[in-house]
Amino acid sequence: MLDALTQKFRAAYSREPELVACAPGRIEVIGNHTDYNGGTVLGAAIDRRTWVALSRRDDANRHFLSEERPGRVALRADEMERRSGAQSWVNYPLGVLDAMGDAGIGIPAGFDYMAASSVPAGAGLSSSAAIELASCLVFLRAVGASVPREQLVALGQRAENEFVGVPCGILDQGVSCFGRRDHLVFIDCRVPRFEAMALPPGSNFWIFNTHTKHALIDSLYATRHDECMEAARVIGVPLLVDATPAMLAAAETRLPRPAYKRARHVIDEIARVGQAVAALRAGDLDALGRLLFASHRSSRTWFENSSPELDFLVDALEVEQGVHGARLTGGGFGGAAMALTSDAFGERGVNRISESYLARFGTRPEIIHARTGDGATLVKPGT
Ligand code: GLA
Repeated sequence: MLDALTQKFRAAYSREPELVACAPGRIEVIGNHTDYNGGTVLGAAIDRRTWVALSRRDDANRHFLSEERPGRVALRADEMERRSGAQSWVNYPLGVLDAMGDAGIGIPAGFDYMAASSVPAGAGLSSSAAIELASCLVFLRAVGASVPREQLVALGQRAENEFVGVPCGILDQGVSCFGRRDHLVFIDCRVPRFEAMALPPGSNFWIFNTHTKHALIDSLYATRHDECMEAARVIGVPLLVDATPAMLAAAETRLPRPAYKRARHVIDEIARVGQAVAALRAGDLDALGRLLFASHRSSRTWFENSSPELDFLVDALEVEQGVHGARLTGGGFGGAAMALTSDAFGERGVNRISESYLARFGTRPEIIHARTGDGATLVKPGT
């Protein structure tokens, strides 16, 4: 990918890229919608990455190219308005520049920029966090700045919250930044604290991308976020991480039904993440898998962010040999399901799932055997 990107950069801009960085996509392993509630979550960085190449310019012109999008976006350094339509992908790098500026870090004026990615977009694998972090690393380097990894996460999240306009937590940026091959990343989102946890040998992750996406996905995410905050307010705690099942039960009659349901999921899910960490420490993948199925049922019933396609996949995976557990991964409302499997799950199981999904929905899911990978890194640091 690095060679191909370098060649394309040369062809487009007639010069060498000075700096190159990459950052991985991620799987949300367990902890659905816990992050912005101050809870805990487990994720894995995958070996699908977004690469960003950059060379500074002497003028104040910024050129953005992406292998995945047609056309060049040309902006002057003082044009920092949010883009729309075909140019909206540029909001990720622009949002990072905006966040760096707000944090008092210098930002490069003119530059030539090119992105390329093997993280499928719209699959719940956080292609957006990957482009944010890879962009952030090259921008920082371009102005000779370096920040702690925790701040890199915060800059990516700020770009997403303030500029792109999604009130997400730090799961995606945290895992993309702190990911490590053969490890999961545990995040205590309130502190925040990040910890790599070794994955037992013989663990496999599979992604089943439905290529479906609810038309109102962004507003549904924001509504869920608001319902969680409303539940915390009525219960009388700063965030749902501070609420216990007993506190929720005591507040049930005062809570609007949707807020009760969301809180019920979040409080139980945070407890499940704790149990998942214990199962992982004990090397008990079956126990971890059972928690994944329980998580999916809770998302479906209480958080109501599943879909017929995701439910079908999880039900089909539950009866397959070698599957420890499966659930929807990421924001939900379409997107992808993930499975944690032993080596006993392979081509035959994949084919069965694919065939039965085809028979039910008339199309096949995209199926990816995802390996864990390392976190965001500057691969060409320039001189
Ligand atoms: C999306 C968001 C994350 C997290 C998940 C749900 O991926 O970007 O911050 O809230 O949904 O757990």
